[in-house]
Amino acid sequence: KKTYAVIGQPVGHSISPTIQQVCFDALAIEAAYVPFEIAAEKQADAFKGLKALGIAGFNVTAPYKEAIMPYLDGIDESARLAQAVNTVKQTDAGYIGYNTDGAGFIHSLKADFKQLTTASTILIIGAGGAAKGILVALLAAGYRRITITNRTVSKAEQLAIATGVEAASLTVAAAQLEQFDCIVQTTSLGMNPTDDQLPLDLTRLRADTFVSDLIYNPQETAFLKAAQSNPKQNGLGMLIYQAAVAFEIWTGIWPDIDKMIAAANEKGF
Ligand code: ATR
Repeated sequence: KKTYAVIGQPVGHSISPTIQQVCFDALAIEAAYVPFEIAAEKQADAFKGLKALGIAGFNVTAPYKEAIMPYLDGIDESARLAQAVNTVKQTDAGYIGYNTDGAGFIHSLKADFKQLTTASTILIIGAGGAAKGILVALLAAGYRRITITNRTVSKAEQLAIATGVEAASLTVAAAQLEQFDCIVQTTSLGMNPTDDQLPLDLTRLRADTFVSDLIYNPQETAFLKAAQSNPKQNGLGMLIYQAAVAFEIWTGIWPDIDKMIAAANEKGF
């Protein structure tokens, strides 16, 4: 029987044990998937311990997505691009780090936004770690018509220059909002249920523009609520699909997405 895990701090809230175990069970694969909460001062010992124990694979969540990297025996292109690891697989060549967040986002976007093409114009709100992950995934998947906007416009400009996309201030992005077929909200604004401020003024939002918010808790942020009649999604799809991509890396099998969603819903997600 193989053991899989998720490591992080905190990790008790993680939906990963639920949605991964349902995949193993549905396929009658003998495996246990367990959460390990790792204290900051024990991280080095814990990372080595996972390898010493022969854990078959594990997910990595905050705050260890970068810290784990020097302890691995190889870094896949997906993790190199994202400069962060969220999935590790034990192989004959040792423990290899991957990042499935970007692929998870693209899968989720395609599943919910049927009109998406590589010609679609995409606005990313935010210029932090999450925005960067989404941006490199979109570029790798062939999307080119991308603009980044951020409260601190210099951070959007830096990211845009480094990747060859456009940057705009929040004011300019709001004024030009009709130009965009898709908007992806990556900032932390909205994570607190009392957040009622919007990260971007949506007055000029087209009714057919697809609106994606990476936040899944709360399920509907003020930003998603404001996009009343638009096609839209929260971050649950990305969460499910990044787990599906990880499961496929470990087992070679693409899992049953509907079963994963049902299991997540049962847990209140
Ligand atoms: P993450 O890894 O979640 O992206 P991060 O790297 O700290 O976290 O980035 C946070 C992002 O959320 C940034 O784009 C930040 O904007 P600034 O660069 O201007 O700080 C954005 N953000 C956080 N709180 C915000 C708020 N109250 N209003 C608007 N943007 C906010």
